[in-house]
Amino acid sequence: MYYPDELVEEIRSKNDIVDVISGYVRLTKKGSTHFGLCPFHNEKTGSFSVSGHKQMFYCFGCGAGGNVYTFLMKYENDTFQEAIEKLADRAGVKLPELEMTEEQKKQVSEKARLLEINKEAAKYFYYQLRGDNGKLGLKYFAERQLSSETMKKFGLGYSLPYSDDLVKYLKSKGYADELIVKAGLASHDEKRGTHDKFWNRVMFPIQDANHRVIGFGGRVMGEGEPKYLNSPETPIFDKSRNLFGLNFARSSKKDYLILCEGYMDVISMHQAGFIEAVASLGTAFTSGQASIVKRFCSSVILSYDSDGAGTKAALRAIGILREVGLTAKVLNLKPYKDPDEFVKNLGADALQERIDNAQNSFFFEVDVLERDYNLKDPEEKTQFHREIAKKICNFADEVERNNYIDAICERYSISVDAMRKMVVGYAGIGIAKPVEPPKSGVKKLDPDEGRRKAQRLLITWISEEPELLDKIDKYIGVSDFTEDVYRKVAEKLFDGIRQGDFEPASLISMFEDEEVQKEVALLFNTKLTGLNGIPIEMDSGLDKEKAFHDIIVKVKTNSLDYYSSKLASDVTAITQVVEGKKKLEELKNIKIHLE
Ligand code: CTP
Ligand code: MN
Repeated sequence: MYYPDELVEEIRSKNDIVDVISGYVRLTKKGSTHFGLCPFHNEKTGSFSVSGHKQMFYCFGCGAGGNVYTFLMKYENDTFQEAIEKLADRAGVKLPELEMTEEQKKQVSEKARLLEINKEAAKYFYYQLRGDNGKLGLKYFAERQLSSETMKKFGLGYSLPYSDDLVKYLKSKGYADELIVKAGLASHDEKRGTHDKFWNRVMFPIQDANHRVIGFGGRVMGEGEPKYLNSPETPIFDKSRNLFGLNFARSSKKDYLILCEGYMDVISMHQAGFIEAVASLGTAFTSGQASIVKRFCSSVILSYDSDGAGTKAALRAIGILREVGLTAKVLNLKPYKDPDEFVKNLGADALQERIDNAQNSFFFEVDVLERDYNLKDPEEKTQFHREIAKKICNFADEVERNNYIDAICERYSISVDAMRKMVVGYAGIGIAKPVEPPKSGVKKLDPDEGRRKAQRLLITWISEEPELLDKIDKYIGVSDFTEDVYRKVAEKLFDGIRQGDFEPASLISMFEDEEVQKEVALLFNTKLTGLNGIPIEMDSGLDKEKAFHDIIVKVKTNSLDYYSSKLASDVTAITQVVEGKKKLEELKNIKIHLE
């Protein structure tokens, strides 16, 4: 749902960023800015700054930055919708209701009822486990070495060995048979009427990312079939779009999640301190789950069982993760079967060590592949190399492809040239010759970056000293900012300054993409330097004037080049070029006094 800009802005301005962030990070005031330890990367000295004046945060260490919305979205992994709801609530602003049809209203209220009834059932199971009849369940969990704290955290419960006590309980609370069945907590047939789905099992409530119970897994205590019984899909339980443990894992500050196979793996990992562990829900990992994971991190560590089935599942998951652009690594748990056993036998430190040394997913795939070939046989060995070459073709990035070729060739003593030829043969793609390392350590500044830098400096400068806008108005306009994002920022900045009410933080909400938000935050937090990168002392008269002059000349020159290159395709470019040439000449010959 889209909210009007004014409302987004109102809510932002009613939530002071220093107040909000103080709730998460301990801040100390230095001058007009507050500093603290950055919550987005590991550091010992505080490079994380929050400016009440700009209503922005910015980390000089990792470059994270933005306004109060960005902060919540990053820290809590909220969507924009979730962040605005929280902030509206915090400021006592009422968000407009969604316009709904009758049918939609019915669906919403049904979902609400289903959530309610699941919560009620979870409470029921929870109390049974801890009541007089729950001894068997408690004994089972104790044998599996779960602490009562862990059991509480995950809301673990127990379903009694009767086939209708939950139904009776829920009916006594006023829920209709139909809803109980629809929630997947009971079935209905002629002979038995409405009867419980789960009985005589230990119960694992499955929560969505917002801690709401959406279903259950029930395990037999000991041997028995099926080992786990899960709630069926319901209007609130979509197994392909939820992950067990994500409600906790989302607060992990690691930049990866650990993907396990089972509920017990996740629970015992969390108990050992690895709150970044999640699992799929009794079904194979899906691309829907992969895109959810992508909201939270950029890589995944697979922690599947070390048996054949686990390996197969890991290979599948690697493909799915790769498709959505996540990198995967694979945990080696040998000699143990799964993370639960591993952690119980070797402990958390050993597990962390395995995590740190998790295997790159490509090498994992190659290892598995290798098992099918007898490398002593030249024929099979060649075939194996061919299969590797085919896999390498899947890397679209040339540098990456070459790196993998080098690594694989070293590992299996294959000639790099031969492997390159093979890869080219399979892909029909040009594989670049190895790049000569540059002779000196000097890196040439990419011309695009040079262009961006001048525009960035000009925006930063004007936002620090808004009175400058008047002096350059004649020569520089919004259209001279040829970078899309910078142009939008410049437009708002200039308008705001003219109207006398500019706050950089309001700009950030204009951009949805987190990377772009970061870039915009950078615009207002760049250290002022000349084009040469030398910092400007804000009070050193002449040098400063020269530096500023250089920057505007550079911006104007860039803009002229830009529009000249578009003359053939863009009829409006001609005005820009003709005017631009005149102004650039003038500009070169004037002095701008900065006072
Ligand atoms: N699973 C299931 N139904 C089964 C068996 C397994 O839904 N009959 C799902 C469950 O989500 C389970 C996961 O697959 O958590 C992994 O199965 P498994 O490795 O057999 O169980 P663990 O989670 O390792 O549980 P335990 O340690 O209790 O054996
Ligand atoms: Mn298992």
